[in-house]
Amino acid sequence: MTKPRILLFDSGMGGLTVARAVRAAEPEATLIYAADNAAFPYGAWDEPLLVKRIVAVVGKLVAETTPDLVVIACNTASTLALAALRERYAVPFVGTVPAIKPAAEQTKSGLIGVLATPGTVNREYTRTLIHTYAYHCKVFLHGAKRLAEIAEGKLKGQAVDMDELKSEIMPVFRKRDDKTTDVVVLGCTHYPLLLDEIRQAAPWPVTYIDPAPAIARRVSDLLRSAKGTGARMNGAQHGTVFLTSARGRGNESLAAYAAMGFGSNEVLDLPV
Ligand code: DGL
Repeated sequence: MTKPRILLFDSGMGGLTVARAVRAAEPEATLIYAADNAAFPYGAWDEPLLVKRIVAVVGKLVAETTPDLVVIACNTASTLALAALRERYAVPFVGTVPAIKPAAEQTKSGLIGVLATPGTVNREYTRTLIHTYAYHCKVFLHGAKRLAEIAEGKLKGQAVDMDELKSEIMPVFRKRDDKTTDVVVLGCTHYPLLLDEIRQAAPWPVTYIDPAPAIARRVSDLLRSAKGTGARMNGAQHGTVFLTSARGRGNESLAAYAAMGFGSNEVLDLPV
């Protein structure tokens, strides 16, 4: 396929960590980013309302951008709405779900931490991943209420409150007998933006799992096997950012997107 067009979707800026890995793996691809910033953060939403919203927003984006592939670069959205999206739209989807399988393969102590949004922590999908792949481990799941917002603040140039960050991550650092948590899953695409601060605040060193490289590999595999049309008459330009609220168009937000390689910016008109 010549110049595949990839749409990356998140509630906010977290999916930029996935976009970074996809760009490295597919430098020729046309990347379009979309943030449902009118509804950010997704972590606190009720499930039925959120599924409806994601299906509507992604449908509008697919019509507008005619992608060859859509990456749902958000655990909170993927664990809830991936099945509904696949059922509804013909375009291939790549989701982002907590990296519990690789964590279970890498842990030596058998104690795994999963940092995610409250929504992702409560999902049946996440529980099933644990029962399937980490049944032999002790998994400490923590729904962090503020970490995604702290990450966006950092990207917009605000100082990170290290005490607040520490209280958000501490619940996954546990001791059992003479063992300690040795692998922590970053189960929200915003969290890799805070990796330096998380390492600094952590009580001991652990392995952190950022799913972005694995998602990029999956994207590459799917593109290799897809039959795309290549050239198109319509669709957004490389580097366009779609937002669902003009609120995200402040200078600090635009600078944050630009720093991650996304320049031009459009507000998506949504019938909500
Ligand atoms: N980046 C999102 C995720 O991966 C969610 C952040 C939020 O909107 O709460 O879960």
